[in-house]
Amino acid sequence: MNDKKVKFAVVGLKSIGNAYVLATNKLPNAEVTAICENNEEIAKKRAAEYGMDKYYTDFYEMIKDGGFDCVILGTPDQIHMEHSVAALEAGYHVLCEKPLALTMEECEKIVEATKKSDKKFMTGQVCRKAPAFIKAKELVDNGEIGELTFIESEYAHDYSYMNKAHWRLDPVKLRHGVIGGGCHAIDLLRWIAGNPEKVMALANKKANPDWPVDENTIAIMQFPNNVIGKIFCGTAVKREYTMRTCLYGTKGTIICDNTSPDLTLFRHAVTDNGQNIYPDVKIPVEINNHNLSAEVAEMADAILNDKEIECTALEGSKTVAVANACVMSAAQGGAPVEPPYLK
Ligand SMILES: NC(=O)c1ccc[n+]([C@@H]2O[C@H](COP(=O)([O-])OP(=O)(O)OC[C@H]3O[C@@H](n4cnc5c(N)ncnc54)[C@H](O)[C@@H]3O)[C@@H](O)[C@H]2O)c1
Repeated sequence: MNDKKVKFAVVGLKSIGNAYVLATNKLPNAEVTAICENNEEIAKKRAAEYGMDKYYTDFYEMIKDGGFDCVILGTPDQIHMEHSVAALEAGYHVLCEKPLALTMEECEKIVEATKKSDKKFMTGQVCRKAPAFIKAKELVDNGEIGELTFIESEYAHDYSYMNKAHWRLDPVKLRHGVIGGGCHAIDLLRWIAGNPEKVMALANKKANPDWPVDENTIAIMQFPNNVIGKIFCGTAVKREYTMRTCLYGTKGTIICDNTSPDLTLFRHAVTDNGQNIYPDVKIPVEINNHNLSAEVAEMADAILNDKEIECTALEGSKTVAVANACVMSAAQGGAPVEPPYLK
């Protein structure tokens, strides 16, 4: 039994990075020993909250000083590539928030850097750690709904409160919603059904016509084994955040999301008098849609015991490839696009 603690450095402390610090320090085999945030006001506030006497405002100064094993990147999508590559080259393990990066060129640079490094790399596709989705995948893998036929998931959020200076609305380094947020729904379906072979998408913007990117994207996809699917990504939808997901199979159906205390499993049956019925079972699940401690726990275990990471850089890049295919298809009015997967 290894009782050593893995030391983590967390970068970007306003929102998700702050959640990573709290999630990491709860674990028995992990601790945050360095923090970096380029907004000094936030950095100082967080250091005081965590009882740390030192903080960094410069990422490169922090990785030069060291004192940790793994860097967690909770920074804007636009700088994931630069910091991922620099951290790997400096000899650190990396846990990078989703999406891995915004373009395939950036993804390729990260994947190539992982190939040259002996360090672990995780793309933080956190839906793989949401209890309802873990249960749904387990039911599918165990054949509870037969063969998959049609699958759909959505990422519904409202970014309308963000002002134009926000990095999510950068007019130059575009952050398409379907890459930044829709990657959750895409990754979930890829995780369950494999890599889409073809994507056809449409997109629009109506609530925020002055945004640099579309706010709604709908995409239909051809998955392996003749499974068809659909994702919806809305970043200006007027409802509470959800990732409503339906998985239809030849023998049953699963309806779930990441904000409800149970998932519904319907199983087809035929009564003695030949009537089709679809009894449903409610399976209780914990609501934990940002289960960051499960990600950090997997990373700590992988480092301590030299285990493989499930959602690697290459895995993360495949989700970005599908999301980029959605953007390309929508730009061509829904033309079929094959995702440009890296090898
Ligand atoms: N897993 C999820 O469900 C989920 C949810 C929200 C955000 N995210 C992802 O997490 C990342 C951060 O999103 P957020 O909502 O926390 O953003 P945010 O804007 O709230 O926080 C980002 C922080 O990074 C800091 N920062 C920017 N450049 C920096 C640099 N060079 N060095 C150090 N700090 C820097 C900013 O000052 C800010 O405090 C994004 O990649 C986003 O897509 C994931």
